[in-house]
Amino acid sequence: MCGIVGYLGSRDCTSVLMDGLEKLEYRGYDSAGIAVFEGKEIKTVKTRGKLSAMKEKLEIEGRPIGHCGIGHTRWATHGEPSDVNSHPHSNGRVTIVHNGIIENYAELKEFLTEQGYTFLSQTDSEVVACLLDYYYSERNPGRAITETIKELRGSYALGIIFKDFPERVYAARRGSPLIVGVGEGESFIASDIPAFLKYTKNYVLLEDNEIVRLDAEGAKFYDVHGIPIKKEVQTAEWDIEQAQKCGFPHYMLKEIHEQPDVVQKTLDSLVKDGVPDFSEIGLTDEMLRGVHRVFIVACGTAMHAGIIARYAIEKLARVPVTVEIASEFRYMEPIVGEGDLVIVVSQSGETADTKAGLELAKSLGAKTLAVVNVKYSAIAREADMCINTLAGPEIAVASTKAYSVQIASLYLLAFRFAYARGIILESELKRLTAQLCKTPDAIRRVIAQEDECQFIASQLINTETLFFIGRGFDYALSLEGSLKLKEITYIHSEAYAAGELKHGTISLIEHNVPVITVATQSKVLEKTISNMEEVKARGAFIIALCRRETTFAEGTVDLRLNFDFGGLDDMLVPLPTVCALQLIAYYSSVLRGNDPDKPRNLAKSVTTE
Ligand code: F6R
Repeated sequence: MCGIVGYLGSRDCTSVLMDGLEKLEYRGYDSAGIAVFEGKEIKTVKTRGKLSAMKEKLEIEGRPIGHCGIGHTRWATHGEPSDVNSHPHSNGRVTIVHNGIIENYAELKEFLTEQGYTFLSQTDSEVVACLLDYYYSERNPGRAITETIKELRGSYALGIIFKDFPERVYAARRGSPLIVGVGEGESFIASDIPAFLKYTKNYVLLEDNEIVRLDAEGAKFYDVHGIPIKKEVQTAEWDIEQAQKCGFPHYMLKEIHEQPDVVQKTLDSLVKDGVPDFSEIGLTDEMLRGVHRVFIVACGTAMHAGIIARYAIEKLARVPVTVEIASEFRYMEPIVGEGDLVIVVSQSGETADTKAGLELAKSLGAKTLAVVNVKYSAIAREADMCINTLAGPEIAVASTKAYSVQIASLYLLAFRFAYARGIILESELKRLTAQLCKTPDAIRRVIAQEDECQFIASQLINTETLFFIGRGFDYALSLEGSLKLKEITYIHSEAYAAGELKHGTISLIEHNVPVITVATQSKVLEKTISNMEEVKARGAFIIALCRRETTFAEGTVDLRLNFDFGGLDDMLVPLPTVCALQLIAYYSSVLRGNDPDKPRNLAKSVTTE
């Protein structure tokens, strides 16, 4: 949450910072700002609102002209979104941008107030600028930073400029991500690589408690005591096209369309000689045989991917699987330990609760496996083993392609699990893997039904509340369909196991309330159809997502979306089906005049509790 950028080089700094912020806007978009050295003076422009408001403000106030500066896009934690609470924050000789939460800000503020400092904003971040100023003496920024970070509790990624040093940018981090871009005669800091990918693919990961100084000679790194350290320069595998809209009106639509390719890529990376192979990440059959229980810990969409995985692993490998919401898991004193495998699933690899769940599981002696899309993220690096999904950068706030690659890799894990435990033979392992490898084509066919999804969305234009129902894998998928729809359309939506509806919730069904029924699972199809009839009898408007050949009694279904899964096993059809749910959500959002890429109140990469 919150995105920070910084630049030092010969380009127009304002353009570099604004480009970078556009790539980071997914991390927060309630306000934005930049501070750039114009000669020896720092010019700050900041405003409440999205980056578009910032662009207007730059037109009115004038673009800062310079080659060194920092920028920020905010998701408010302390203090409402307002011009004054927007970053950068300045105090005395220091200007900063901050991502994270300073937990002891109240006591620091009290101390600094006693020292004569005054505060303009309600943010926790402004105390960092003050504290840096307090410790700044003898023109020594390095010492001001090392002294300051010793006092901070909580999480931070900081971009810092000192008025006395117009040719330097400093940065430090603990708990929040910060990457240093290393270009030819120019350097960058950013919360994520896409912010500088246009200029360089070379980067250095700043670790907790490390500090970087960008100056005319490049990037220099220091430990928490200010002692110089050597860092390895890495090369990003992502290219700039992956971080651009490429002609699509929104990132979300582009990312939905990328699914056949990214699922294919992820499968290719994990399948060897026709079978799933996790030996490269250290996950052996012997290890899988020794697992007593599996816990899947994640948040939101990633947690929904975990629910699909639960159905698949239990069905195939006969190991008990529990799916836990990470924010609950970390505080519930879970009974987890040796012999357990804890799988954490996360697109960003930075989600605070998921990371805490991982740390807890490790401390309790469980083996940990991360399924993460950002290879250089904290979760990817902390887990004992890591499956790196290959969705590429996901920029739309609503997760789409990351979900698909998560479930694709978790299916492979379920297959290998079953094989390792002797429940299926190699021939079945090969058959299942070959089936999964057909899903990119099935996904393509569903995406080709985009117009039909748009039509369904048009029928929801006046809807205020709706339900999703399904059984088994269809229920697991309904949870995701409902989340996708509500987060970007603001329609109240609930997902229910179809058989559970009559235990209370059916009282909410009245004339014309839409019920989107996912009905792809043959084993429970008749049961699902009975549940559809129950809600139809109470006036529901039924939209069925089903196979082309499925028949319903006359009058049960008001609208249907027919799928051709090309002979896929029932278990695997969530992969193509989710694309229809994503497209319905996307078009419902657009038809309501919303920005699906930046839904209200949300941000991607939730690095605070
Ligand atoms: C919903 C969505 C969120 C994330 C959740 C976890 O569309 O994107 O629910 O899935 O915040 O994020 P990661 O996967 O980054 O841990």
